[in-house]
Amino acid sequence: MGIKIAEVKTEEELCIVAELAEKIWHECFIGIISEEQIGYMVEKFQSYNAMKDQVVNQDYHYLAVCDDDDICGYIAVKPEKDERFFLSKLYLRKDKRGQGIASKMLEKVFEEAKNSGKSMVYLTVNKHNDHAVKVYKKTGFQIVESVVTDIGNGFVMDDFVMEYKL
Ligand SMILES: CC(C)(COP(=O)(O)OP(=O)(O)OC[C@H]1O[C@@H](n2cnc3c(N)ncnc32)[C@H](O)[C@@H]1OP(=O)(O)O)[C@@H](O)C(=O)NCCC(=O)NCCS
Repeated sequence: MGIKIAEVKTEEELCIVAELAEKIWHECFIGIISEEQIGYMVEKFQSYNAMKDQVVNQDYHYLAVCDDDDICGYIAVKPEKDERFFLSKLYLRKDKRGQGIASKMLEKVFEEAKNSGKSMVYLTVNKHNDHAVKVYKKTGFQIVESVVTDIGNGFVMDDFVMEYKL
C-alpha cells in the first residue's frame, strides 16, 4: 500500500473526486440525514460545479488520497483570514477505512495548516456522526460549540464545531 495525498490540480481529478464524493456521501450519511438531504447537499457542496466554484472563488483546496493509483478519499481545506484553518471535508471510501489512512490524512491537514502559518484547525461534524466525532476526539480535537445551519430547501445541518490547537 502506497498512500499519497496531493492537491487536486486538474479538472479531470476534480471530476473523479466529485464521483467519489457522491458514492461516499450516499453510503455514510444513511441513518444520519434523509436521502433527500444527502442528494441536496451533494449537489450543493460536492458536485463538480460546486467544488470548482469553491476552488476558483472561495480559496478552498482539495487534496486527493491515492492508494497507488486508486483515488480512494479526499480532503478539502480553506485557510481563513485569521489564525484558523478550516478542515471542510475528510472522506475515505468504506473499503479503505480502519487502516491508518485517516490518521495520515489528518497529519497532512495539520502540516498544510502549519505551512499556511495557522495556529488552529477547526471543523464542523454532524452531531450524530458518532464514528467521525470519536476519530476527531482521539486525534485531539475538542467540541467547542453546537450549531444549526439553515442550508435551504427546508434542510439544516446539525453540527458540532470542533477545534484542534496546533
Ligand atoms: C472519518 C473517516 C475519514 C475516518 O477514517 P477511518 O478509516 O474510519 O478512521 P480509523 O478507523 O483509521 O480511525 C482513525 C483513528 O481514530 C481512532 N478511532 C477509531 N474509532 C475510534 C473509537 N470508536 N474510539 C476512539 N478512537 C477511535 C483509531 O484508532 C485511529 O487512530 P490510529 O490511526 O492512531 O490507530 C472515515 O470514517 C470516513 O470517511 N467516514 C465517512 C465520511 C465522514 O463521516 N467524514 C467526516 C465528515 S465530518
